[in-house]
Formats: sequence, C-alpha cells, structure tokens
Amino acid sequence: MKNIRKGLFAFALMGFALIFVQCKNEKKDENNQAEDTAENQKVLIKKSDFGTTPEGELVEMFTLTNAGGMEVKVITYGGRITSLKAPDKIGNYEDVVLGFDSIEQYTKDNPYFGALIGRYGNRIAQGRFSLDGEEYELAQNNGENHLHGGEKGFDKVIWNATPEEGENSSSLVLTYTSEDMEEGYPGKLDVTVTYTLFNDNSFDVNYEATTDKKTVINLTQHAYFNLSGDFSETILDHIIKINADKFVPVDENLIPTGDLMDVEDTPFDFLETKEVAEGINADNEQIQRGGGYDHNWVLNNQDSGMRFAASAYEPESGRFMEVYTDEPGMQFYTGNFLDGTLPAQGGGNYEKRTGFCFETQHYPDSPNQESFPSVVLEPGETYVSNTSFKFSVK
Ligand code: GLA
Repeated sequence: MKNIRKGLFAFALMGFALIFVQCKNEKKDENNQAEDTAENQKVLIKKSDFGTTPEGELVEMFTLTNAGGMEVKVITYGGRITSLKAPDKIGNYEDVVLGFDSIEQYTKDNPYFGALIGRYGNRIAQGRFSLDGEEYELAQNNGENHLHGGEKGFDKVIWNATPEEGENSSSLVLTYTSEDMEEGYPGKLDVTVTYTLFNDNSFDVNYEATTDKKTVINLTQHAYFNLSGDFSETILDHIIKINADKFVPVDENLIPTGDLMDVEDTPFDFLETKEVAEGINADNEQIQRGGGYDHNWVLNNQDSGMRFAASAYEPESGRFMEVYTDEPGMQFYTGNFLDGTLPAQGGGNYEKRTGFCFETQHYPDSPNQESFPSVVLEPGETYVSNTSFKFSVK
C-alpha cells in the first residue's frame, strides 16, 4: 500500500513537471512569435545588381518592402522607380508604375519612365534664361525648348544610394553632385533625394539641394501610374481630383502664356472628382495643345506647407492614391505621347494614355516668367521640396 502511494506521488510529480515545462515552452514560443512579428513589421531593404549601362557603369536596384507587403523598387540610374506594388480592394498586390525589365531599355530613348527630373522639371522657353544680367544657354531638346534638364538630366545619371532602416519606415537616400555648368546650368549643385516607404502605405519623396552660385532649380518625380495594375488598360477610367482653382495655360509649344486661367467651366476643373475620359478629348484649345492633359495646375493654399494636392481612384481595383505636397504646382500629364512602341512589363506595349504622371513642381518656364513663384536658389540657401503619395483602397 505504501509503495502504491509512493508510486502515485511520483507519478503526480512527473505530471506537474511536464505541465510546468510545457507552460514554459509555450511562453517561449509566444516570445519568439513576438520577436518574429516585430522583425516582420520592419520595413526591409534589399540590394541587387540591375546591370550595366552602355558606358559600363554598374546599376544597383534597391527593393523597399513594408509590413503589409507594399514594395517599391528603385534603381540608381536616374533614381528611377521601376515598380511599385500596392494592394487592391481584395488585398492583391500589383505593380502600378510603368517600367521596363532591363537596364538596356532604360538607357534607350524613353519618356522619363519613373525618373527623377532635374535640374529643371518641364520646359524652359528657347532653352534660355538670365540671372543678374548674365544669359545662360541650355540644350534645346524639345523642339526649340529645353525639357526636363537637357540631354543628360538627372534621369540619366547614376545616383549614389544609401539605405536607411527606421522603426516604421525605410528610406533610400540618393545623392548626386551636378558640376558647375553641367547641362548649361550655373553653380555646383549638391542634391539629395530621399525615398521613404512607411508601414501605412505612404511613399514620400523629399528633395534637398545647395549651390555654390546663384542658379535655378525645379526637381520632380516622373513615375507613370496606372492604378488598375494592368498596363494594357488606359487610365481613362481613373477618377481624379485636383485641389486647384487655376491652371497654367500654354502656347502651341507648351510654353506658359504667362497668365493663370480659372478652371471653372473648363475641362481642367477637377475640384470635384471627375473621370479622366470626361474632358480629355474636349473641343478646347488648351486640351488640343496638350494632346490631352499636359498642364500645370496652380495648387490652392500655397502658403500652408504640405497639403492635399490631388487624388486618383481606379474603381475596378479600388486603388486610391492621394498626393500631398508643399510645391505650388503639379503637372498632370496623361501619357499622350506614349505610342505603343515601348515594351510593357508583363507583355505587350505601352499604348497611348496607359499611364499618368502627377509631377509636383514649380510652374514651367518660371526662370522667364516674373509673375510665377521663384525658382532661384542662392548660395547659403537650401532648396527643400516634399511630396507624399499615399496608397489605400475604397
Ligand atoms: C512631361 C511633359 C510632357 C512630356 C512628358 C514626357 O509631362 O510636360 O510634355 O514631355 O513629360 O514625355
């Protein structure tokens, strides 16, 4: 009897010990899981080789991924965004930025796919401007005008890239020094552009620059978006809103006339949401000059720093993109010059109007237009420009 009791006691003891060990292990698993989740929630950056330019320069690709699965790929050639995957309303992540598969295609002639634009976004009439009585001559690379920084603008140079991982975000810091008189612009310009992907699906582009001589500057980002995630579709069904009472009318060469025009009662009125298709083929002189929308909107509330500028919504996928900026203007370009000659990622070709750009910036030809907000940068000053693209679904 005594032995039986002893046996039972030993058995019970073993049972307790087992339960104790199991509890401990469970606790350990929980902790591990917590660690894993914290690890997973970090926004990660991966680096890979993207190829070499015809001049033999190595091009790197950085992939930024956030906790939810949003992913942005950037190459050091032109600081170009080659892909941006955002979720649709059923959680499908698809690329919403037009791009190419290879460096060969990026270095061949193409309309600034995904690129950083500088030193001057958009056109400067006749490729000429003066500062303090001195005349500067730039490349006339768009008919008689200068466009997007010239023959070898910031879209075609190799940027130095440094990844930076934060708590809820990860950044890619791109730097480039443009030498005095590069592409005809005065002053040695040190430029830093920081791309940051946040866990809340915002993607920020922050620009900074300093110069050692008085110069002009107007940087922007030239990503072509198609929120459907299907590059064989046009962007005509996208529903757009632009927070601007006025826009910048242009002449036959897309140079500002110097006036600002009210959007009211014109196809340029996007104060209330409107489908792109509604006004893009309107019988309107400005629309005809642009071959569709290719104009700069004069954003409202210019003295309030970062504020809502525009949004785009694609009803089928439910993808919604909002743009916030501290810039006075935004070029809304509807891919009117895409002509089906460039190979699309995932097959086929990029046809007319299969992408649109929201290029936050100062107005075109500002160096020659006294009434426009100034684009002059002096030594000792820092040029600062910020834009945030926020992705969600509706
Ligand atoms: C900008 C210009 C357009 C065109 C595209 C690139 O949006 O305003 O006219 O040059 O870039 O093709």
